[in-house]
Amino acid sequence: MKIDLKPSTALAPLPAVIVTCGDEAESNAITLAWVGTVNSEPPILTIAVRYSRYSLPIIERTGEFTVNLIPKELVRSLDRCGVLSGRDGDKFPRAGISREAGKNVRCPSVKESPLSIECKVINRVDLPTHAVFFGEILGIRAAEEYVKGGRVAIPEGALVTYSNGKYLETGKMLGTYGFTAKEQGE
Ligand SMILES: Cc1cc2nc3c(=O)[nH]c(=O)nc-3n(C[C@H](O)[C@H](O)[C@H](O)COP(=O)(O)O)c2cc1C
Repeated sequence: MKIDLKPSTALAPLPAVIVTCGDEAESNAITLAWVGTVNSEPPILTIAVRYSRYSLPIIERTGEFTVNLIPKELVRSLDRCGVLSGRDGDKFPRAGISREAGKNVRCPSVKESPLSIECKVINRVDLPTHAVFFGEILGIRAAEEYVKGGRVAIPEGALVTYSNGKYLETGKMLGTYGFTAKEQGE
C-alpha cells in the first residue's frame, strides 16, 4: 500500500552543480540542484534561484551564468558554495575553488570542474519563491577525459547527485539509451 503525502518538491535525484556568475567587477559561485534541460535546438537549460540569494541580482545584471558539473572530489566545495553567501566575502577561496576566465561569457568558470556550460539568459520567469532563468548554452568547456569523438562523454560514476538532502555518487551503468528497442530488434 502507498502512503498519501502532501505536495512537496520530492523529485530526485537531482544534479548538484556550482553555478558561477558575474564579471570582472564581481563574481560569485552558488550551489544549485534545481537545474534542468528544457530545449535541444538551441540547447537551453533552466536554473531556479530563490529571491534572497546574493547571486540573483548578479545574474540579472550580467545576463549570463555558467553551470559547472561536480565530480566527487569536489563535493566539499559543492557544499561550501551552498552554505556560504557571496555577500559575506569572496566564496571561491573559502570553498577551495578557483576562477577560470570564461570563453563565451564574461563570468568565470570553476577551474577545477571538468565540464562548464556557458549560458546567456534569454528569459526569466518569476515564480512565488524562485526566479527561473532560462539559459541558452553558448559553449561547453570540458576536460579531455569528458570528451569522446567531439561530444560530451561523462565518465561513469564521476559526478555527484543530490537526493533527499544527501550527496550521492552516480552509480554503475544499467543500460544505454534505447537498449530495450535493440533487444526487441525494433
Ligand atoms: C545541495 C544544495 C542545493 C541547492 N540548490 C539551490 C537551488 O536550486 N536554488 C537556490 O536558490 N538555492 C539553492 N541552494 C542554496 C544556495 O546554494 C545557498 O543559499 C547559497 O548560500 C546562496 O549563495 P549566494 O547568497 O552567494 O548567492 C542549494 C544549496 C545546497 C547545499
